[in-house]
Amino acid sequence: MFKSAVARQAAKAVSQFSRPAALAAPARPALNTFFRPLSSTAARANSEDDKIKKDPFLMATTKAPEGTLESEGQFARTDENVKIEYPDDEHMPRSPIVQGRGGMHFKRTLAQFSLENKVTLVTGGARGLGLVMSQAIVASGSDLAIVDLNKEEAQEQAQGLVAQFKKENPGLESDQLPNVTAHYADVSNPDSVTAAITEVLAKHGKIDHLVTSAGFTENFDAISYPHDRIQKLWGVNVDGTYLFATGVAKHLMERNVSGSMVMIGSMSGAIVNVPQPQAPYNAAKAAVRHLASSLAVEWAGYDIRVNCISPGYMLTALTRKILDENPELRDKWISLIPTGKMGTPEDLMGAVTFLLSDASRYITGADLRVDGGYTLT
Ligand SMILES: NC(=O)c1ccc[n+]([C@@H]2O[C@H](COP(=O)([O-])OP(=O)(O)OC[C@H]3O[C@@H](n4cnc5c(N)ncnc54)[C@H](O)[C@@H]3O)[C@@H](O)[C@H]2O)c1
Repeated sequence: MFKSAVARQAAKAVSQFSRPAALAAPARPALNTFFRPLSSTAARANSEDDKIKKDPFLMATTKAPEGTLESEGQFARTDENVKIEYPDDEHMPRSPIVQGRGGMHFKRTLAQFSLENKVTLVTGGARGLGLVMSQAIVASGSDLAIVDLNKEEAQEQAQGLVAQFKKENPGLESDQLPNVTAHYADVSNPDSVTAAITEVLAKHGKIDHLVTSAGFTENFDAISYPHDRIQKLWGVNVDGTYLFATGVAKHLMERNVSGSMVMIGSMSGAIVNVPQPQAPYNAAKAAVRHLASSLAVEWAGYDIRVNCISPGYMLTALTRKILDENPELRDKWISLIPTGKMGTPEDLMGAVTFLLSDASRYITGADLRVDGGYTLT
């Protein structure tokens, strides 16, 4: 098949060159160039100018002539001078609970989307995407255990979620309110993870669903990235996901019941963000995505589904603060998103509910990109 395609191309090329000169396309390279290996790639222009001028393939490159652009490929490269200052933990902005997204059926919907009678554990649920996904989970009828490094904030948000649920569902008795609890864990530490799962089981009696949202990013160019920071980043993003997934799977297998897990990856697991350099984060999120697929296969026989959500650029309290301080960075990011805008945490509410619920019961190992089309271009 491949051979005959090559033969067709060669025949086409020869017939093209046997046409009268006036009919031939003006920019066609010379005949002998068709016998170059098919995999050859035009080399980058360098000081060997003369050699390039004699090589019709190199002459045919679309590289801009030197000096005509500020920098060729300028919109598609990382820039090691881009420094994003992330606030330390004390100064991290808090996330608001969103208003008016729950309630008893403002509009009719499929019962399959309900999470009633389930207990869901969300890591990193005190803030950002984890908090808003937690709200969707509670609004869909599930009890909730928020697990976070920051237990105090998790506790306050847990109370806030119940208060919001009450507001959106007036007239409910206190025993009809969701049971929302807060727990401490450092997700990168196996002992801490085991202790948190034990504590959640003591409070709720069971765990049915898991969402792993604890994670963070930071920016260093690869050469100067401190090794201990890379290990911390991989520890939280990758080990943290793995430890909670295996801990909850073990519990589900012991109970011999089905379950659903959603791992929060990132579009960075599929593309390379520009201009900020962040190679270890990108690799961590690629690992999360493939961990979801691998565990989906390993646990398919136990009826435990494992899927991944890969968000694009989402406007959390933290990213809002960073971008308010770096408007140029915001413009660059937005210029690369086909829908022309960043996502909001609320854009994940439907995605996480769908993947946890029976509405997706034949879906496992999938990567659901919620990125405004970023990864399509
Ligand atoms: N915000 C975005 O644009 C975006 C885009 C793609 C993917 N993501 C991913 O989504 C997830 C949530 O991001 P976010 O923007 O909501 O971040 P965030 O900083 O707002 O919230 C992260 C939460 O995780 C907790 N956490 C951090 N380290 C922890 C640890 N070791 N143990 C337990 N909890 C810990 C934090 O206390 C915090 O509550 C992350 O995995 C992130 O990589 C975010």
